[in-house]
Amino acid sequence: MSKTIIALDFSSADQVVEFLKQFDEPVYVKIGMELTYAEGLSIVETVKKMGHHIFLDLKLCDIPNTVKGGMRNLAKLGVDMVNVHCSGGIAMMKAAKEGLIEGAKDGQVPLLIGVTILTSISQEALNNELGIQGEVLDTVVRYAKNAKEAGLDGVVCSVHEAKAIREACGPDFVTVTPGIRLASDNVNDQKRVATPAYAKEQGAHMIVVGRSITGSANPKETYELIEGMMN
Ligand code: C5P
Repeated sequence: MSKTIIALDFSSADQVVEFLKQFDEPVYVKIGMELTYAEGLSIVETVKKMGHHIFLDLKLCDIPNTVKGGMRNLAKLGVDMVNVHCSGGIAMMKAAKEGLIEGAKDGQVPLLIGVTILTSISQEALNNELGIQGEVLDTVVRYAKNAKEAGLDGVVCSVHEAKAIREACGPDFVTVTPGIRLASDNVNDQKRVATPAYAKEQGAHMIVVGRSITGSANPKETYELIEGMMN
């Protein structure tokens, strides 16, 4: 399966279908809040019918019973990957996994990954707004260990954290890393970016790439170039 997940940050189903038409082979795509809240969960069915793999990035975080029920229903959609916030705690993450197992279509349990600390949270905000002391990396690693203990398959983290997580949680614990740019790209609003080659070097299992592919003159060619760098 592809190691490059294309972030479908479009605002309508029509734009998504138009964009995906150029890929004749299945690709791995990320459907997030913007698209889901604009189109409803029917967007998942639309993309699935085109044969693509789906990471449904809705970042659940609530009390365990509510997350369990939500995951039971998301599992019925037959997506490949879903996520929760690690900050919801170990009991919530365990409940998420139970819900997914209960709702899994044909026994196919989607991969469950945890969002560690959002890459938009600075060191200063972590310490002074959220009241969590110490380095961002220490909290990220602690959250990743919690996710592993709860039975999750991996975490979303920055490329710069992938190596420490691999050392703490082992080589099979999946790291999914956004913030990827080709050396020639515009950085846009991302702060700490890295190239696909560096992501591979740091041991990231999968990368999430949005604008480098969707904004490229030839998205299919750019996707193939990036996927080649990850293999
Ligand atoms: O266009 P770009 O490659 O920056 O898009 C990155 C994608 O990854 C977006 O969908 C963004 O919401 C998501 N993401 C991120 N940083 C995180 C978590 C998710 O950029 N920490």
